[in-house]
Amino acid sequence: MKNVVILTGAGISAESGLKTFRDSDGLWEGYNIQDVATPEAWEWNPTLVQDFYNMRRKSVLEAKPNAAHYALAKLEEKYKVTVITQNIDDLHERAGSKNVLHLHGIITRSQSSKNPNLTYPIDGWELKMGELCELGSQLRAHVVWFGEPVPMIDKAAQICSQADIFMLIGSSLAVYPAAGLLNFVPAYVQKYVIDPKIPSVYGIESMVRIEAKAAIGVPRLVEELLK
Ligand code: APR
Repeated sequence: MKNVVILTGAGISAESGLKTFRDSDGLWEGYNIQDVATPEAWEWNPTLVQDFYNMRRKSVLEAKPNAAHYALAKLEEKYKVTVITQNIDDLHERAGSKNVLHLHGIITRSQSSKNPNLTYPIDGWELKMGELCELGSQLRAHVVWFGEPVPMIDKAAQICSQADIFMLIGSSLAVYPAAGLLNFVPAYVQKYVIDPKIPSVYGIESMVRIEAKAAIGVPRLVEELLK
């Protein structure tokens, strides 16, 4: 079975109603990223950060996978598929993808603020101040903030290096180390990019360009690959 490796970003969930980051002036749901998605923000105003992610979790739980998520799950009928996602939503899993690596964490889980390896499922949308991990420290969202290490990056790079077919869907590739993953995909691999506004970053020029929204472009490409 051929190995399909797919790197997804916020764009694949746009048509599920979840906003992308850089399509909205660098603000995330009206917030400056520095004020809600950094260890410093958590130190200064943990309640604001907790509330912010509670709202994001609520939106994720209310959202539904779209045709692009479902098409990627269908690809497993004929290929060994690994989805590497920068998204903190669980829409790939809910659409049926079995092999999903979350580079930036997943919002439906909580994480110890003392030991990032301790993560737990969250019941419902709200994580409250005062809810503690087994070490007695406050629980926060299981997401990677700016300035924090990306523990899954080496595994992701290794997966990229073994691709037979590669797809990039809905990411501006503005954030490292995720953006550097393209460098690990061997030169001979067939590569596709699906995005209504394809970013002009190094590595994109060797890809087949599908200039379309994910919910249109991904099912079309998957149909071709399943023929
Ligand atoms: N279908 C496909 N792509 C789309 C769609 C759509 N319907 N709508 C927008 N896009 C594209 C945009 O053109 C852009 O290239 O999705 C991309 C979104 O880029 P970003 O908002 O920068 O999102 P992403 O690349 O996932 O950001 C990476 O940055 O803030 C951090 O940790 C956060 O994981 C995130 C990381």
